[in-house]
Amino acid sequence: MSEQATARPHMKLTEDGRRLRQVLSYSRRGSRFTPSQQEAWDAHHRDWVIPDEAVDEPGFSWAEVFGREAPLVIEIGPGVGEATGVLAAARPDCNVVAFEVWLPGVAAGLAEVAAAGADNVRFCSVDAAWSLEHLVAPSSVRELWTFFPDPWPKTKHHKRRLVTPEFARLVASRLEPGGVWRLATDWAAYAVQMRQVLDAEPGLEGGQVPRWAERPVTKFERKGVAVGREIVDLAYRRVG
Ligand SMILES: C[S@@+](CC[C@H](N)C(=O)[O-])C[C@H]1O[C@@H](n2cnc3c(N)ncnc32)[C@H](O)[C@@H]1O
Repeated sequence: MSEQATARPHMKLTEDGRRLRQVLSYSRRGSRFTPSQQEAWDAHHRDWVIPDEAVDEPGFSWAEVFGREAPLVIEIGPGVGEATGVLAAARPDCNVVAFEVWLPGVAAGLAEVAAAGADNVRFCSVDAAWSLEHLVAPSSVRELWTFFPDPWPKTKHHKRRLVTPEFARLVASRLEPGGVWRLATDWAAYAVQMRQVLDAEPGLEGGQVPRWAERPVTKFERKGVAVGREIVDLAYRRVG
């Protein structure tokens, strides 16, 4: 195992070889596929899913993964990919990477990408925070999308939220100058936290924006709207 492989969150071990407990922004959910997910997985995973081990290869490169150099767009936590396919199809000149640790979501996302007629998406089921730090070069991301990240509503779980000052600093360093981080949430308290964190990050400039018209409505937005929650869209641009 390479040194980098042992650093991956789900592989990190203590010195005496035990699995290290870590604070992650997700919990492992079921991995069973529905028949339609299995069908999409069988049809597309060889072409569109990056095998976990590939990220441990020395010299891992996005240009090699996509077979071309192109501006990089990243989605963190696409869920079942309801937004991924449509947004990627509208950006045929970009390489779109979707980081999703939940494999049934990846399988469903493959079907969404195929239905949208896009062939510029690659799914990676390695932790997005780790990946952004280790696989993505500084100043190389044109757009980053984080729609309806897990809100971790209980106070004792707040530390698991993806959007923290450290993560915002990392994102700012990975965006290209002028690159944009778009976020959406239906969780009012998380929206406030996002704004506080992102407003305090000197490498980012932005705030709340009207609903991004291009963003497809996903299950999480529908559920939030159905129970009367306000949907908050944020957009921050890399400055400096
Ligand atoms: C609440 S769902 C939102 C799904 C989708 N964006 C939507 O709007 O329907 C959040 C997703 O993010 C994924 N996720 C959370 N933290 C992640 C991480 N660090 N790396 C990759 N995926 C992550 C979870 O597995 C989950 O599918």
